[in-house]
Amino acid sequence: MKSVARLGATATAIVAVAVALALLIGGNAPERAYPGLPDPGLGTGWAYPVVHGLNDLLAVLTVGLLLAAAFLLPHTKGSLGVVAIKCVVTASVTAGLWAVVALTQGILALSYSFGAPIARVLDPTVVSSFFSQTNEGKALLIQFFGALILALSCWTITRAQAATTALIGALLVVIPPALTGHSGASDRHEVAISSLMLHIAGISLWVGGLCALVLIAAWDKSALRPAISRYSTLALWTYVVVVGSGLANAWIRISAVSDLWTTGYGRLLLIKTGCAIALGWLGWYHRKRTIPALDQQGTPTAFIRFATIEAVIMVATIGVGVGLSQTAPPVNDAIDLTKASAARLVLGFELPPPPTALSVLVQQVRPDALWIFVALLLGALYLLGIRTLAAQGDTWPIGRTISWVAGWLIILWSTSGGIATYSHVLFSAHMVQHMLLSTVAPIFLVLGAPASLALRALPTGSNGAGVRELLVSVLNSRFIHFVSNPIVAAIIFVSSFFGLYFTPLFPALMASHLGHTIMQVHFVLAGYLFFWTLIGIDPGPKRAPYPIRILVLLVPMSIHAFFNIAILQSNEILAQGYFASIQRTYLTDLLADQRVGAGIGWALGELPLLMVMITLTLQWSRSDDRDAKRSDRQADRAERGDGGPDELGDYNAYLAKLADRDAKN
Ligand code: HEM
Repeated sequence: MKSVARLGATATAIVAVAVALALLIGGNAPERAYPGLPDPGLGTGWAYPVVHGLNDLLAVLTVGLLLAAAFLLPHTKGSLGVVAIKCVVTASVTAGLWAVVALTQGILALSYSFGAPIARVLDPTVVSSFFSQTNEGKALLIQFFGALILALSCWTITRAQAATTALIGALLVVIPPALTGHSGASDRHEVAISSLMLHIAGISLWVGGLCALVLIAAWDKSALRPAISRYSTLALWTYVVVVGSGLANAWIRISAVSDLWTTGYGRLLLIKTGCAIALGWLGWYHRKRTIPALDQQGTPTAFIRFATIEAVIMVATIGVGVGLSQTAPPVNDAIDLTKASAARLVLGFELPPPPTALSVLVQQVRPDALWIFVALLLGALYLLGIRTLAAQGDTWPIGRTISWVAGWLIILWSTSGGIATYSHVLFSAHMVQHMLLSTVAPIFLVLGAPASLALRALPTGSNGAGVRELLVSVLNSRFIHFVSNPIVAAIIFVSSFFGLYFTPLFPALMASHLGHTIMQVHFVLAGYLFFWTLIGIDPGPKRAPYPIRILVLLVPMSIHAFFNIAILQSNEILAQGYFASIQRTYLTDLLADQRVGAGIGWALGELPLLMVMITLTLQWSRSDDRDAKRSDRQADRAERGDGGPDELGDYNAYLAKLADRDAKN
């Protein structure tokens, strides 16, 4: 534990100094306020950003340690090794500290936003209303409880799957603060929030992973070899994500290139870009020098030296990032609450003009960085897979590629195109988005057979633990076995209709960008799972026979029709408060618009389900033909005495035996 404490103390000092320097360079160093003006005091002025930096550091370390245990270090048949166990136990400690720091940051944020010293704001009512009613308070409270759960559970982990679950949990707990601050208040929150979420998630994996390797080097150098090669692949992808999302977020904050040197915010951006370039070079140097040296000489010395330098720069850049988030950007697109229209207050953007074919199809585009990133990443990985197959002299059916690309194009238009903009304003447009994301795009994605491509293109991992093995273990996991049962998948698929629209969940999720993203992710995943169990090409748990699948499809088809009829006939307006608060100047009859939505939902939902029914029937008839041809071939081979099973012959023999028995009775 001593090495952890030493490295932890060093990292804390680096973050604190980097935050302080960033505030000075950004021109936002705390100062005494003029008498009579609200003043949290210099203590809070410096402590608040430094503790914010510590929060980010502990979040990154917890994610990094769980990443090492779940993925970087080899495990035996799913059981964690000694070093991996050390990682999860240490993650419990960093998560515990993270929980305390998140709460402390909350108190400091309260003092900071109230403009009063801590002693004066520590009133239980004030504290509880801060944590329950302000975005920053809510985000930090979620982090506090999330980190606490991790602290109480991580030390008990002994299996890679549990470590993977904890890793996903930790990544989700890192995100909430990205929804506050500059990005949360931004007019272009689709880009601001999504890019910052990606930025922070990418940093957590990239910086966290490297810090974990530096720690593992202190514990057991021999465990480094397998972990480094896996980290190296991840590091390249996360580097691209961090730089890309950072640039996307910076792009909406500056109005002119000159802002980069004429404003404090711009200067900090330049420093961060410089750090990112240095880190990119170090990553290249590892690939060219230190990792090959480890292979040839077996000594990780060079790797550890450069990795430590890299970790210092990364931790310092986190500090600069926090300084940046505390510095006013040149483009202050935060909404002026006193002047903003009702629509702008609710939507975060001005009411779009009345919908026309042109405005819905092409004009009212609001790019959603998260979906654009996911589509580009999974599109690039898919094409990389095809290229790998081609290099092996293998081909991949073009139909599948077209289907995969078509699926993502539908998702991109549904989440960034005009329909996405109007889905915030009109129930009818929201229903079009829902149907495209849950019943249309997933059919195309499923027919793209991504898992089959991955399994054919990915190399077998050394020590039997690589990306391919991870994919196989996920596809064979108990969780996938359970959810890929067509009945379970159908329940998940239809439950989103009733579970979302006929509960307070719908208005709650409609009211925030994150809410919309959660709905959209659920629609795509629930649709993908449902159609995978019915017409999926990819390998997975044993498929139900065709008659069962057709039956399972019939049930959601009728439930879906019933759901839309229920809305069509209902006089109750769903999410009335939300839609009324927009005060839109067109299609003002909310019930009429809702009925249009139900009608569209019915048509747009039933059609793809019908297409799937036809596909299933075709697949069934083809599989029968295939079976018939296969047993004919076997019978021919048996007849020619070429060996191999003669199912038809065996079957006839069995029938003859039955006939004999019956004749005797
Ligand atoms: C080209 C490189 C990069 C650019 C353009 C960039 C830009 C940004 C921007 C615009 C923000 C949002 C600040 C705000 O809220 O106004 C941000 C946040 C942040 N960046 Fe970067 N970044 C880059 C690289 C990095 C790297 C390499 C790291 C760390 C290793 C990093 C760490 C952070 C952190 C920790 C935050 C969030 C701070 C917080 O709110 O908690 N960034 N970055």
